[in-house]
Amino acid sequence: MQSMSKINRSDTSFTFGGTTNTVLRCDPRSRAWVEVDSKVIENNSRVLKNFIGKDCLLMAVVKADGYGHGAETVAKAALIGGADSLGVATLEEGIQLRNAGLKCQILILGNLINAEELYSSFCWDLIPTISGIREAIICNNIAENNNKKFLIHLKVDTGMTRLGCDCKEVQELISKIDFLENLSLKGIYSHLAIADKDLGSNTQGSFTQIQLNRFEKVLKDLGERNTLLCRHLANSAGTLSDKRLHFDMVRVGLSLYGYFPLNDFESNLNLHPALKVKARVTLVRDVEKGTGVGYGHCFKTQRKSKLAVAAIGYADGVSRTLSGKIFASIDGVLVPQVGAIAMDQMVFDITDKPDIKTGQVLTLLGTDGEVCISPQNWCDLSGSIPWEVLCSFRNRLPRVVT
Ligand SMILES: Cc1ncc(COP(=O)(O)O)c(C=O)c1O
Repeated sequence: MQSMSKINRSDTSFTFGGTTNTVLRCDPRSRAWVEVDSKVIENNSRVLKNFIGKDCLLMAVVKADGYGHGAETVAKAALIGGADSLGVATLEEGIQLRNAGLKCQILILGNLINAEELYSSFCWDLIPTISGIREAIICNNIAENNNKKFLIHLKVDTGMTRLGCDCKEVQELISKIDFLENLSLKGIYSHLAIADKDLGSNTQGSFTQIQLNRFEKVLKDLGERNTLLCRHLANSAGTLSDKRLHFDMVRVGLSLYGYFPLNDFESNLNLHPALKVKARVTLVRDVEKGTGVGYGHCFKTQRKSKLAVAAIGYADGVSRTLSGKIFASIDGVLVPQVGAIAMDQMVFDITDKPDIKTGQVLTLLGTDGEVCISPQNWCDLSGSIPWEVLCSFRNRLPRVVT
């Protein structure tokens, strides 16, 4: 069979039927994309830093690719805004930031369990979280073999029932760690389990208060030793709700990205969302009343309608469970999504905004004029949480930093 098309991948030209064409595929805004305003992150970081005050350090939590915003972008902006250090979940996330040239302290919030990982962490100057003596000994051996100190933070479980050693074991564990000459215990921390539920109400009498009590008891039992450590407990919800949870450092994720951990939380803090999800209209069509739309025809037009096909789907991170529930904004006007969200496309009913043309841009998430569609809006419809919505946008969506 005769080959019709010959594509030269080293440049952007291809030949088809004897003629050479140029493919301009370099614009990340050609289909669908995530837009991130790094100045907004920078400002959120500044606002949070001012809020916690000069005696408290700010850790910007940039795990999961900076909650979907792009870890490097967020990390750099947060540090400019006043963050003191970064928190990641995995070794690879830490290495990625070092490769991007970031020199600040980086704490790995997840557990590294084998010697290879811990050795990498040591080589890349990343601080591992330790929950028990097993990993502490591995770290000490690595540092001893290299004639250096290995900086670590110890995690205590005050009620999350996940990582961290038992509160009752802390003292004994720290005495053992102090005995290991090549370890340098720099911090002690715990993680709040339901601070977002306590937000806006009084922490006192809540489970967050119980966790606070447990953390304070651990510190008190350590006596003078605890004052040499960086003590930290609060996530965004803890940071915003109760200054008693701040200690020496807070670890903020969601609020850095401009969202409050609870939808109806009243706050004067000037935090703004930095992310928008946008998609282009790839086709506009007129259809008759009673036309089935998309897979399964789960939507049928109730009137003669104008529809716009948008180039974004569940493979980009918009959950199929949102089918027929969400809206997109264009020129500050909301248009409803109809029919099943497919892998790469979804359809909007633009009958009431008929001037929309092929190539125009729909905002699915974020601010567009007076309209703001937040992850929480999607969560109210899908049962998800803002953290999950933000992390769900796939690499297929280019991140465009503005
Ligand atoms: C240990 C730890 N600290 C802080 C955070 C930041 O939480 P948030 O995004 O609620 O501020 C996280 C995120 O899950 C975490 O795992």
